[in-house]
Formats: sequence, structure tokens, C-alpha cells
Amino acid sequence: MAQIIDGKAVSSSVKEEVAAEAARLKEEKGLKIGLAVVIVGDDPASRVYVNNKKKACEAVGFQSFEYALDASTTQEQLLDLVQVLNRDDRVNGILVQLPLPKHIDEKAVIDAISPDKDVDAFHPVNVGKIMIGEYSFLPCTPAGVMRLIESTGVDITGKNCVVIGRSNIVGKPQAMLLLQKNGTVTICHSKTKNLKEICLNADILVVAIGRAKFVTGDMIKEGAVVIDVGMDRDENGKLCGDVDFESAEKKAGYITPVPGGVGPMTIAMLMKNTLTAAKQQAGIE
Ligand code: GUN
Repeated sequence: MAQIIDGKAVSSSVKEEVAAEAARLKEEKGLKIGLAVVIVGDDPASRVYVNNKKKACEAVGFQSFEYALDASTTQEQLLDLVQVLNRDDRVNGILVQLPLPKHIDEKAVIDAISPDKDVDAFHPVNVGKIMIGEYSFLPCTPAGVMRLIESTGVDITGKNCVVIGRSNIVGKPQAMLLLQKNGTVTICHSKTKNLKEICLNADILVVAIGRAKFVTGDMIKEGAVVIDVGMDRDENGKLCGDVDFESAEKKAGYITPVPGGVGPMTIAMLMKNTLTAAKQQAGIE
């Protein structure tokens, strides 16, 4: 039976570290840290995420500036706001919640955010830095996954690491981070042949394909570390991940639950990135 990786506990310790350092910087350097969160329209899931980000800011002692814009906001208006935030010294990090309404080009918006304030690490400059290992910010979800793997004590060096999913936000950067820790990395996706065989060879398996209970116990190597990035609904409408937890926990050595695994890590890493951004802008370290 697998050990459950407690994402809530690991995320709390990350937030505690961030809060302690933010308090010290405020005391010693008078540094105030601020995150701007922009939401366009009224997508309920986005609303929940944005509220959670605001709460996390309060918990670690950051100021949060929320910009809730109407769904009819034009691309030009949104780009103007991004420019204002790029120049606003109170704002150390800028997060534009995705997805955006269809009439707005997400790429144009991401490109407009100053790379120094891009706490999502979605800007091409930050994506490129990850490729060469010279980054300031890591995208929040893959960075959170790395912390969860670290919490198991399993050393990545030389291990077979399999990532299922090739999105720009999770799969691709995840593979790079595992490679930088000396893993032997395979990236799989919806068109991969022999997926089961490849998975059965994985010492570390990260699943981010967006399909409910896609990975089952018979695809998992005995004792593997299994990290489930999915957030799906099963046939009864119940929240579940991309991994079939019930069968997988019988094979895995360590496994993340959904909810309570990767989810809480994403916001904790966003707080960490905002702290890093503030320090860099203030010329600290
Ligand atoms: N929508 C879902 N996840 C994310 C995220 O990590 N960042 C942003 N900006 N939007 C999202």
C-alpha cells in the first residue's frame, strides 16, 4: 500500500517559509510585497482560484490587488491594464487568470507582462530560461510537483521519469525540471504507443493528461512515485484525478490524492515566486 503524499502539509510548510521571509524583509528592509490578480469574466472555477490566491496572499502577509473585469473587456483594455501594472511599484507579481474570453488573444496578453513580474513563468523569456536552467521563476504546478517528489526523500538522479501530458504549463516544463535533476525522462501524450509498457518502467510517474482515472494500477511499477496533476470529474460527478487512486495505491510506493495533492502546491509556489520577484526588483540577493 502506498504512502499518501500530503500536499496540504507540504504546501503549508512552503507558505510558512514564504511568510517568515516576507516578515523578515518587511522588518529589515521595509519591503512590502504585492501581487496583482486579473480576472476577466465570471467563470466560476476561475473565481474560486482567484479567491484562493487572495486568501494565500493574506496568509503570507502580501498585499493583493484584484482587478475583476467584465467579460466584454477588449483586448486593448486588458493590455492597457497590464502596462499600468508593469509600471506600478506596489505590484511585484502579475497574474492574469486563464482561460480568457475567446475574443482575447492569450498569447498577446502573456507576452505583454513584464518577464520580471511574470510569476506564472508563462512569458517566452521565462520559458526559455527554464530550458537553459537559468531561471528566476518556475511555473507553479511543475515546481510544486518537484517539492512533492522531494518530500518523499526519493532521489531523482538516474531514475526513469515518465510525464504523461505535453502542455506548455505542466508537461513540457515538468520534463525539463526532472531532466535538470538528472532523471531519464520520457514524455508521453495522447498519441503515444505502448503507453502501458512505458508507464510500467517509470520509477517516477507524473500524470497531467486531463482525463479522469486514465492511469490504472496495472500501468504502475511496484513502489513508484505517482503524482497526479489531474482535476477531473468521474462518472458520478465526483472530483477525481487522472489516476485511478483505488487501484494505483495498491502498486505505488508514494501517491498524491486528489484533492489535497498537487492542487494546494500550485498556490504555495505562486507565493514563493512573488517573494522571489519582489526580492529581485528590490535588488536583494
Ligand atoms: N488557470 C488555471 N491555472 C492557472 C495558472 O496556474 N495560472 C493562470 N494565470 N491561470 C490559470
